[in-house]
Amino acid sequence: MLTKLQAKVFFLGGTAVFFGIFLVLTIDTHLKVPFQTNAKDITSAVIAGKRIWESNNCMGCHTLFGEGAYYAPELTKVVENRGKDWLKVFIKNPAAMFPGQRKMVHYNFTDEQIDHVIAFLEWCGRVDLNGFPAEPPLRDALQAMGTPTGVVASNGPTPLQKPVPAVFTTGTCIGCHQIQGQGGAAGALIGAPPLDDVFRRKTRDQIIEWISDPAKVKPDTKMPKLVGIAITDAQVIEIADWLVSLNPETAAPTAAPAPAAQPK
Ligand code: HEC
Ligand code: HEC
Repeated sequence: MLTKLQAKVFFLGGTAVFFGIFLVLTIDTHLKVPFQTNAKDITSAVIAGKRIWESNNCMGCHTLFGEGAYYAPELTKVVENRGKDWLKVFIKNPAAMFPGQRKMVHYNFTDEQIDHVIAFLEWCGRVDLNGFPAEPPLRDALQAMGTPTGVVASNGPTPLQKPVPAVFTTGTCIGCHQIQGQGGAAGALIGAPPLDDVFRRKTRDQIIEWISDPAKVKPDTKMPKLVGIAITDAQVIEIADWLVSLNPETAAPTAAPAPAAQPK
């Protein structure tokens, strides 16, 4: 048993020791923060972007550094996951990028404001968060998700009507490009063509080359590189094969016209 005095010493000593440890760790944290946040990279664009972020209550729907609301995606690594070019198009007309799904607010930001928001999010993405957000990153989850889409009929016998592969949705192609009468609204602003008859303009290999790295084929293009961001290398091949398979002239014999009389 402790005497009264021993108990007092034990209590005060223990408190002092742990308060000391607490102080040291607090000071240590504060000394490390400027390096982890890359404080030197906080440019005027980053500050302007943060003001836009706050005044529009983006956190009412999103989380950043894990803080905020859980309605919409976590945005800490969004620049790394999506790429700046994609984000520029997305923020301009968000609902168009995910036709028919839940909607992000259309803010009517100017191009400069969009650049500021992206600068802010890019800076956030570079903050050393000791491994947050946890793996697997959003892009892998998005790819695994695969939301199937229906097919809307369009006029004319060509190109062939075939169900649109899920990768057009998960890869966000459908936000920019119209395909089988669906989507394309986000890309209309930057001249993304419908892809139904791309087989007339590009061979399978050219399509693969293009999707793999658009800027390598056409340096001033507005199509972002999506490999490693929204699609995998294997999906590039899948997409190219599907796009050329829409050509009725080279379609496999199994796609020959069905017998005229169809049972009702
Ligand atoms: C009313 C809720 C809401 C608010 C407020 C909101 N967003 Fe969103 N945001 C969404 C939803 C929902 C999505 C998911 C994409 C979709 O389905 O359209 C999204 C997606 C995004 C994405 C793309 C994420 C990805 O990986 O695809 C970015 C970037 C983004 N929002 C930025 C912002 C910024 C910046 C603000 C504030 C200026 C903001 N959002 C405010 C709901 C919101
Ligand atoms: C942010 C918008 C955007 C997204 C997302 C996007 N594209 Fe594009 N794409 C464009 C634009 C703009 C062009 C026209 C580029 C040019 O000529 O500079 C284009 C061109 C193309 C072309 C060449 C078209 C032609 O007629 O020669 C193909 C093929 C293509 N995209 C496929 C895809 C696929 C597949 C995806 C999804 C993995 C995709 N794109 C996602 C904007 C986009």
